[in-house]
Amino acid sequence: MPAASPAVKTPPGPAGTAPPPGAPLDSLLAPWLRGRRRSLLRRLVNAGTRPGVLSLAGGLPAVELFPAEAYGRILKDLLESPGSVQYGGRCGELRERVVELARRRGVSCATDRVLVTTGAQQALDVLVRSFVAPRDAVALERFTYTGFREALAPLSPRLVTLPSSLGGGLDVEALERRLRLGARPKLLYVIPDGHNPLGVSLPLESRRRLVALAHEYDFVIVEDDPYGLLCCDGEFDPPLAALDAERVLYVGSLSKVLAPALRLGWARVPARLAEALAAVKEMGDLECSRLTMLAAARLLGELDFDRRLRDLRSVYRERRDAMLEALAERLPGGCSFSRPGGGMFVWVELPPGVDGEGLLERALGEFGVVFVPAAAFADARDRAAPANGARLSFSGAGPAALREAVARFAAALDG
Ligand SMILES: Cc1ncc(COP(=O)(O)O)c(C=O)c1O
Repeated sequence: MPAASPAVKTPPGPAGTAPPPGAPLDSLLAPWLRGRRRSLLRRLVNAGTRPGVLSLAGGLPAVELFPAEAYGRILKDLLESPGSVQYGGRCGELRERVVELARRRGVSCATDRVLVTTGAQQALDVLVRSFVAPRDAVALERFTYTGFREALAPLSPRLVTLPSSLGGGLDVEALERRLRLGARPKLLYVIPDGHNPLGVSLPLESRRRLVALAHEYDFVIVEDDPYGLLCCDGEFDPPLAALDAERVLYVGSLSKVLAPALRLGWARVPARLAEALAAVKEMGDLECSRLTMLAAARLLGELDFDRRLRDLRSVYRERRDAMLEALAERLPGGCSFSRPGGGMFVWVELPPGVDGEGLLERALGEFGVVFVPAAAFADARDRAAPANGARLSFSGAGPAALREAVARFAAALDG
């Protein structure tokens, strides 16, 4: 380029949007990101690690049950072969193990339909970026998993916000009414079992109806099922993906059945879209850690997985029961709470007028206990979202600590 070429002048942006010269760097951020804070939930998880504070905030799996010795041995062995620390593309071994895990949930899936991702979170991100264009509509529950909202944020879609109940989860009749009135979501997000944050399961009839509606009104369902293998009372109903092989994009995770630090999850995607969706995943991180994928595949191959599931379920059952008993004993009148069949969370509906965030401030400041208030799971612009809710997690502490934490929570509520 000639040194003396004149500077190219770009036209000014639309009125009011061009930052003035010397404006702070933040003003150059994409509009959706300006002024955005780290999620309340992440900040609370940090508060729960302060000395003396009991945490009911994070949905932390019981990692003390992770087979660390076997994993260490496998890693050591893998490190002897340079291929395991090289770029290597997709990992057939792990995809085969994923097919077996999916089968345990009644979801049939050939290996060419498995997209291995960096946790279920990346699967949600890839699916959202692949299907949702700006201004498309997305249907989701009023209170739902924060990570899904965050994956949506850069796309700023229109939201079709649906109510749920502590008895039956997502209100499918409300969805049907919205569809009849003209709502046209491109994608619906649902957590069928061990719902985060509500701790509910969707009845089988609602699962069937959702699949029928997806066909009738032409939308895809993203079914997020990280807790599906962690039923404390027998087995959960089959996921939506077991009822429909195409419309339902099923998301699973190793975080809850092995360990979150592996950062491995997956999606079952339609075979003819598998290449396109894999390319979207690669835009983010090229590939998952090959070493970790190989190690996880070997670990899953070696483990007595039936036994592992039995052990996990029995630990979580004990914890869940301790929390439910303590809530029944300690909570003042005017509260109700979900009775999860599994997963990691209980939702407490506080008496009308009690603000979850205000309660949290008192609970943390005066009683040394943290939980996640309802507002963390709702869209900040949703004025219809009641503030009198709290998510309590029972997964990360033993029964005695849970009883003490619930006693403190109830005391904060009384105080
Ligand atoms: C409903 C739901 N989906 C997805 C995730 C993310 O899981 P992963 O650790 O596999 O990314 C979580 C984690 O808590 C979750 O609760």
